Amino acid sequence: MSEILPGFSLLSEIGTDAYQVKGFPKRGRKKKNPEPRKFYIETYGCAMNFSDTEIITSVLVKDGFLATDNFLTADLILINTCSIRDNAEQKVRNRLRHFRGIKNNNPAALIGVLGCMAERLKSKLLEEEKIVDLVAGPDSYRDLPKLIARADDGQKAVNVLLSRDETYGDINPVRVNSNGVSAFISITRGCNNMCSFCVVPFTRGRERSRDAYSIISEARDLFNDGYREVTLLGQNVDSYSWKNEGNGECITFARLLEMVAQINPILRVRFSTSHPKDISDEVLYAIKKFPNICKHIHLPVQSGCSKVLERMNRTYDRSWYLGKIERIRELIPDCGISTDIITGFCGETDEDHLETLSLMDYVRYDLAYMFKYSERPGTPAAKKFIDNVPEEIKSVRLSEIVDLQHKHQAKINATETGKIYEVLVEGTSKRSENFLVGRNTHNKVIVFPDNGFNKGDYVNVKITDFTSATLIGNAVKFHYHKHL
Ligand code: 5AD
Ligand code: SF4
Repeated sequence: MSEILPGFSLLSEIGTDAYQVKGFPKRGRKKKNPEPRKFYIETYGCAMNFSDTEIITSVLVKDGFLATDNFLTADLILINTCSIRDNAEQKVRNRLRHFRGIKNNNPAALIGVLGCMAERLKSKLLEEEKIVDLVAGPDSYRDLPKLIARADDGQKAVNVLLSRDETYGDINPVRVNSNGVSAFISITRGCNNMCSFCVVPFTRGRERSRDAYSIISEARDLFNDGYREVTLLGQNVDSYSWKNEGNGECITFARLLEMVAQINPILRVRFSTSHPKDISDEVLYAIKKFPNICKHIHLPVQSGCSKVLERMNRTYDRSWYLGKIERIRELIPDCGISTDIITGFCGETDEDHLETLSLMDYVRYDLAYMFKYSERPGTPAAKKFIDNVPEEIKSVRLSEIVDLQHKHQAKINATETGKIYEVLVEGTSKRSENFLVGRNTHNKVIVFPDNGFNKGDYVNVKITDFTSATLIGNAVKFHYHKHL
């Protein structure tokens, strides 16, 4: 999964102190305190964590808590954490130190660590960071009310059990921080791959697929509420497989994509992340067949060198990956392709690094997320290999791949001028309130002057200019679908 934002308060854009979520009762938990208690939650890491925060909010609101965006007045401060690289964990540690000050002024406030760091460090967090009152791993969010009650009584509140079947399929996520147009839907949890560098199989457990019909009904409800784009989420969405025990039918990812696409032709469908070994021709044919399945695939390569890929246990080599790229381009010629790359993995030589640069030259990705290798304790790579590429060399290699990627993006974007794309309006541009922002099917961000369109409108935009990350254009008049 690719990173979204380094840290984000659930309600940062809402600006209210506390509020009630529609459809949930207003009641306090503690008898001695008739006022509802308030919780504040901050989220770090990947889209999956942001999606989990919507589940956590649902669980807490149902239990009578009110959400707040002001941690100074919160009774419960939660951090939903990421362990993917060491710097992600350091950010959370800094944040915990900051919250320690608040606890000094408001000793009754509880502080909880949720998500991947909770799973990785378990009760160490309670013992080391004396500030933490509760620790909940990614499969224990239903248990939060009990954990909070235990912490209220001054008891140790830890649940880091991983489950083989928890999918939270029956919980209605609360979309508190949403733009009202696009939403995430989790379709699988956990990961069965064992990429040697990756901590996710240890923090999120075994892969499980959610009931297909609960996914369809969530997507349909979103559409009926005015949403126009859903992103199906999982560590490896292509391995989605759900068996209907009632009639024995087995639903694959390709089938699920089709079912979601058929909800309505003006509901866009995206998905992330695909593992190159699992993305099948059936999935590519589904993308090709349905205009509302977006023509964009996030296909992490990690390295362009077969020897490094083998040590990473990615289960494909350079030429196999390139064959997959060829196949995508053969079936869906205009497909946007993005990737993740790790530089400076154990034993990576200068020649290996050059192979990554040459693969990038060959593929010419539309977008790439690029990282320096960060050893994670307990992973197969940490056990088997030495993290022997010096930090300075990792930095040089990272800047080389970042520079190359920017060059590619600038060249690709220069070829977009004059083209017309259908853009789903997501809101006002951050740079200027006179401009709207949205994306095209290829996931490219497009900015254009606001001529009175609304969020959720599909607008045809002619591209006139570009930066390395954004296309700029003008709406083509009288040619758009109004938000229904
Ligand atoms: N070090 C650096 N990057 C990592 N990723 C996963 N584990 C590590 C690690 N130990 C990257 C991969 C993955 C993305 C989500 O994060 O590129 O695809
Ligand atoms: Fe980690 Fe590999 Fe699973 Fe992705 S597919 S979550 S990189 S183990």
